[in-house]
Amino acid sequence: MEKVIVTGGAGFIGSHTCVELLEAGFEPVIVDDLRNSEERVLKGLEKIVSRELPIHRIDCGDAVALNKVFEAEKPSSVIHFAADKAVGESVREPLKYYSNNIGSLFTLLRVMEQHRVKDLVFSSSCTVYGDTDQLPVTENSPTGAAASPYGYTKVVCERMLRDASAADPLLRAVLLRYFNPIGAHPSGIIGELPIGVPNNLIPFITQAAAGIREKLTVFGDDYPTRDGSCIRDYIHVVDLAKAHVLALRWIAKQKAPVCDVFNLGTGTGNTVLEAVHTFEAENGVKVPYVIGPRRAGDVVAMYADTTKSSEVLGWRTELTLGDALRDAWRWQQTLGKAAVQ
Ligand code: UFG
Repeated sequence: MEKVIVTGGAGFIGSHTCVELLEAGFEPVIVDDLRNSEERVLKGLEKIVSRELPIHRIDCGDAVALNKVFEAEKPSSVIHFAADKAVGESVREPLKYYSNNIGSLFTLLRVMEQHRVKDLVFSSSCTVYGDTDQLPVTENSPTGAAASPYGYTKVVCERMLRDASAADPLLRAVLLRYFNPIGAHPSGIIGELPIGVPNNLIPFITQAAAGIREKLTVFGDDYPTRDGSCIRDYIHVVDLAKAHVLALRWIAKQKAPVCDVFNLGTGTGNTVLEAVHTFEAENGVKVPYVIGPRRAGDVVAMYADTTKSSEVLGWRTELTLGDALRDAWRWQQTLGKAAVQ
């Protein structure tokens, strides 16, 4: 089986992608120091796939340790998820983000070069588009106006990959721009593990519905949208995970060097209030909420044009917002109150 190094494979999107890789006949090799995950995710993952998985508990920014992994595993490709991703924290600690997110991609590219591994799928984000009124956003929409240091690390990483691929004709890179990944594995065995008070909407909704948080604050109802709250493109993490398998297959078919970019969203925008009310209707539970002020840095609306990923990668979403919100609630019930800080 073709070995794929999955950095950040114990994370939210990484763990779901490992499941899909195995189902598609790839052998994922996880590289993750669990700084933003827990043993229970690895155990859950192994339970879903009914086997043990190779796991290297190292920092993928550690060149010596990463070299040893490549030497031992001899992978044919890499999916690079490992990165810090909290927007607010990146404003408070920008150097941590520049050092970790940019540094680890740099180290990875060097190690790949040494081992002649040429195929890479990179996790990028719709945040590279910044605030735009050209909706839906296509891959050709302007980038670079990212509102946070986190977002800007994605802009820089994308540029680093384009430059590296222009200079190395054998490098084959795919950059995937995720919109808002939500949901959990339908088994309820793996899902997102927010650390502390969740920053993101859906984990906050599930914790408020479970009584762990008193109430959700909807950040603003005076935006120029159909109900005044912000619009986002919420995509089920399992649909997102499947796109990584298609990206690897697409790379393998390329005869010429490539460095290409794809949007991964549903193509449909939903408001915050629609997400809250759909959650309530799908799960038969109430979400206590209040309307609060706008959150600094939020864009009014963001949703994807997915024509390219569907035409080129053959990718289509199969799951709905309702599916994602039911799966997120099931996962919240698995988690219980134990993991809450
Ligand atoms: N929201 C609330 N209350 C909350 C949390 C969020 O109303 O408690 C609202 C936000 O204001 C926003 C929407 O819910 O309108 C979604 O917010 P999230 O924090 O869940 O997600 P973002 O759209 O802010 O995040 C996305 C991507 C990130 C990326 C970021 C950059 O998921 O990866 O955009 O802005 F970094």
